[in-house]
Amino acid sequence: MDSGKTAFLTGITGQDGAYLAALLLDKGYRVTGLVRRSSTAEINDIRLKWLGIEKDVELIDGDLLDLSGLLRTIKEIRPDEIYNLGAQSFVKSSWQQPLLTGQVTGLGVTNLLEAMRIEAPEARFYQASSSEMYGLIQEDMQSETTPFYPRSPYAVAKLYGHWITVNYRESFDLHASSGILFNHESPLRGIEFVTRKVTDGVARIKLGKANELRLGNIDAKRDWGHSKDYVRAMWLMLQQDVADDYVVATGVTTTVRDMCKIAFEHAGLNMEDHLVIDQDLFRPAEVDVLLGNPTKAKEKLGWEPAISLEEMIVEMVDADLVRLS
Ligand code: NAP
Ligand code: GDD
Repeated sequence: MDSGKTAFLTGITGQDGAYLAALLLDKGYRVTGLVRRSSTAEINDIRLKWLGIEKDVELIDGDLLDLSGLLRTIKEIRPDEIYNLGAQSFVKSSWQQPLLTGQVTGLGVTNLLEAMRIEAPEARFYQASSSEMYGLIQEDMQSETTPFYPRSPYAVAKLYGHWITVNYRESFDLHASSGILFNHESPLRGIEFVTRKVTDGVARIKLGKANELRLGNIDAKRDWGHSKDYVRAMWLMLQQDVADDYVVATGVTTTVRDMCKIAFEHAGLNMEDHLVIDQDLFRPAEVDVLLGNPTKAKEKLGWEPAISLEEMIVEMVDADLVRLS
């Protein structure tokens, strides 16, 4: 069923981009997305292929750093909804590439907001903000009113992206919402993030392809949900009459150690026999614990997560076993 609506996604080749594209196609949207030109274009759409939707979306060459390209693209597509998911999104890399992270993850948001303000001011805008902005947490449970204290160049850039979205909403009356999403994962998660590193590592050990899994700070705690649930919250935000900011989280926090245990146990392995702590994998400044309060999203959007951490880790281990077999 054709909804008559067009969506434009940056970051469509990433984890959330793929799941959001699938959700929007399901709802009858025309789905378009920005893709960075690559010399290995054949692997660009690997996540879209995993979901079997690579032929159903329209991919347009571009980059968040290139305002002129964004202006032309928005003018041509005339989207009803714009989802800004593109970012240098790996926290650890942001100490290695602080300037690039600032430009893409921070200023890139202004590029896209400018393109929308000039070419499609009636569109609705979603900014992918992050629980990393809470960093050194100022309240045990973080909500929309908790003060921010970013602890990495990535989090500092996201904070800029968050406030410029709020500012454009207030300055130009744009329908611009910011989703403060806590960690969310899936079988499509990048291999460098801890859940996928663990499920891939456990699958390798199970299949006799490796014997150890090296991790950094396993005492860190995260509020983990499933990407499939979280992209639904993004869409819901843009269906509201009034734009606003929302925390999206499960309200449960778990250590990296316990998340890891779920993966090893599902594979019938003893974690202590394989886990090695590597000091090189610790971060210059750590976010020790994150725990989100999703009450506003529940009450105003009617959003609730459907997939538990255990179900998700089991799904991820099984997907990695299939991939590696
Ligand atoms: P991801 O898998 O790392 O995807 C990032 C996307 O951004 C990829 O499509 C990537 O393209 C694209 N990108 C990178 N640099 C770009 C540039 N200069 N111009 C245009 N696109 C660029 O991230 P994700 O997990 O799907 O997360 C989506 C968004 O939500 C990100 O902004 C992330 O920071 C934010 N977020 C994520 C979480 C989480 O737990 N997953 C939580 C809170 C917020 P390539 O494929 O070419 O690299
Ligand atoms: N990646 C990784 N690799 N993390 C490890 C490792 C390891 O070997 N060992 C321990 N950790 C710890 C990290 O120190 C961190 O405390 C925690 O595991 C989670 O790390 P990541 O999975 O890399 O995610 P993140 O919390 O830093 O960032 C993710 O979530 C943010 C939302 O809070 C990313 O998706 C960000 O883009 C997102 O904004």
